[in-house]
Amino acid sequence: MSESKIDTRLWSSKARNLSPYVPGEQPQHDNLCKLNTNENPFPPSPKVGEAIAKVLEQQADELRLYPAPESDDLRAALAQLYDIDSNQVFVGNGSDEVLALVFASFFLKERPVLSPDIGYSFYPVYAQTFGVELVQIALEADFSIDPDAYRQPCSGIIIANPNAPTGLLLSLADIRKLAGEHSNSVIVIDEAYIDFAKLEAGSSETSVSAVSLINECDNILVTQTFSKSRSLAGLRVGMAFGNASLIEALTRMKNSFNSYPLDKLAQAGATASVLDVEYFEQTRQQVIDLRESLTAGLKALDYDVLPSHTNFVFARPKEGNANEVADKLREQGIIVRHFDKPRINEYLRITIGKAEQNQRLLDALKVLQANADVAAD
Ligand SMILES: Cc1ncc(COP(=O)(O)O)c(C=O)c1O
Repeated sequence: MSESKIDTRLWSSKARNLSPYVPGEQPQHDNLCKLNTNENPFPPSPKVGEAIAKVLEQQADELRLYPAPESDDLRAALAQLYDIDSNQVFVGNGSDEVLALVFASFFLKERPVLSPDIGYSFYPVYAQTFGVELVQIALEADFSIDPDAYRQPCSGIIIANPNAPTGLLLSLADIRKLAGEHSNSVIVIDEAYIDFAKLEAGSSETSVSAVSLINECDNILVTQTFSKSRSLAGLRVGMAFGNASLIEALTRMKNSFNSYPLDKLAQAGATASVLDVEYFEQTRQQVIDLRESLTAGLKALDYDVLPSHTNFVFARPKEGNANEVADKLREQGIIVRHFDKPRINEYLRITIGKAEQNQRLLDALKVLQANADVAAD
């Protein structure tokens, strides 16, 4: 609805003052090369469809009943995956919902919450929605996070790791340091893309995920999602891992808002996805391999590409402005994401597609460059 037609007379002042998150567009065109919202180019495990079909074919009658409120089977499968207890696992309707419950459960205090100035753009929206003061800490010039810059009183810290949209990874040593220096604050590590991350060569850690720290640090809460590495953005399932008391706070908050966030189909499909380890390993490795070849292709076209630990790359054309490149790609049905924000407006965030999609993008960029060279001559 156009702004001028909206009648806000009956709205609460809260509703009037909201500035909602604007998701990446979902255009519907034939032959679209959609590389803008970090969805997985591969389908979910076939076991997901089978599990959902089984519910519909054999237990359709049970859809008249409410689903398991705490998604017990799904939480047990996730607990087994990470070798932790079920009471250290929380699930919700996408990690966006889990993150909203995080803000309400841990950050609504006198002190502000700290977050990088370049990060997931939903955090400032939640802060505003829940009336939480958010202090943004500047990333270093190379877009890395300096844990020493977070040495100030706070109710909590929230960091996407790998960060979005930069794709850079913070080490577990730095996360451990943050947790140790802020023992009375909750350190939230949003691991939406962690399954695409790789340990740095020579690292002494055995994992990249901060889930491996939750028994050691009772103030670390890790969120993850089924939307990226498990190809299930449409099913809406996200999770959190942490100390049982943190999980209990989230559960109480959920039960004060929506007791049944995951329907029966989502619970069955997500559980089947977790159990199909082989498919998961195979597709995530394929995405990682495609990322490496897209990175090489972009570098060959003289793009600066940050070392990505995600299913997207953050790349800067050496010549021409990123916004213009995005517009020209769009004319050819190739959609990438450009953020019109200070410090990152020269970059494009490009989701890793299938090999043929990545090639179409590279071919289109090559033609754009050739045209620009002709125009310059
Ligand atoms: C860093 C980050 N966190 C959370 C999410 C939300 O994911 P979900 O689909 O689980 O709500 C996204 C989605 O793009 C993301 O980029």
